Amino acid sequence: MAKNVVVNGSRRNFLRSAALLAALPLVARAAHPPGGVQLKIATIGAGRIGGTLGSLWVKAGHPVMFSSRHPEELKGLVEGLGPLAHAGTVEEAIAFGDVVLLAVPYRAMPQIGKDFARPLATKVLVLDATNPFPGRDGEIATWARGKGAALASAELLPGVRLVRAFNAIGAGRLPEFSQRPGERTGMPMAGDDANAIAVASLLVREIGLEPVLIGPLAMGRHLIPGSPLAGERTPDEIRKIAATLK
Ligand SMILES: NC(=O)c1ccc[n+]([C@@H]2O[C@H](COP(=O)([O-])OP(=O)(O)OC[C@H]3O[C@@H](n4cnc5c(N)ncnc54)[C@H](OP(=O)(O)O)[C@@H]3O)[C@@H](O)[C@H]2O)c1
Repeated sequence: MAKNVVVNGSRRNFLRSAALLAALPLVARAAHPPGGVQLKIATIGAGRIGGTLGSLWVKAGHPVMFSSRHPEELKGLVEGLGPLAHAGTVEEAIAFGDVVLLAVPYRAMPQIGKDFARPLATKVLVLDATNPFPGRDGEIATWARGKGAALASAELLPGVRLVRAFNAIGAGRLPEFSQRPGERTGMPMAGDDANAIAVASLLVREIGLEPVLIGPLAMGRHLIPGSPLAGERTPDEIRKIAATLK
């Protein structure tokens, strides 16, 4: 089980990860997930990226609550996924999850921070898949790009254990990775909290990708569509590119 959450292969991280998984508040030993650990996951946003990732984690054996401002519209999605899938309001999903995925247009982030930063700060991991696009999201996106999207999210969500990941790979490609033979495609990630990174790594591996930590959360400014790290690359390619970035 614990071997699935080693981030860089070091024994120190292995032990830290094992300790983390033992300490998770709602981790049940489960037969189904390949990692042997069942995590309750909440998605804030259940569109292309939130709906896809949540579905893949349900298929990996995790209970997932999908949320949006219109949870009644998620009925078809959850019925198709079976008993591990649930739909709720954003508040209900945050109460449900040990892990939360942020998958909303960036313009929603200030309100989410204002309403939910405190409960989100109690979570083991908040995965930030959001991207700021000024044309779509307005002035908040211009501000976030200037600051770097990862640090901008951290400012909007004080105290939250953020890991930035899944930002620059098309949602439509994600279901393929677990079926693909050969070397895994890498998933660049950035974060500051070792435990959060370990849990994120487990969730990345479970959908057939290989986590590659490119550095602390500040490096998450490079995890955005159009950056040199965007798209599909091997773990080695990601490491080489990341080494050239500041
Ligand atoms: N699509 C991709 O391939 C992809 C890949 C990587 C990253 N991203 C990033 O992920 C984010 C979501 O993209 P997407 O393509 O999944 O968008 P999408 O398909 O339009 O889905 C957005 C989701 O967010 C919900 N939402 C919007 N405002 C909300 C709010 N204030 N509170 C709670 N939920 C809210 C929407 O539901 P309601 O309207 O019902 O509330 C919907 O479920 C964006 O920041 C995007 O840049 C997308």
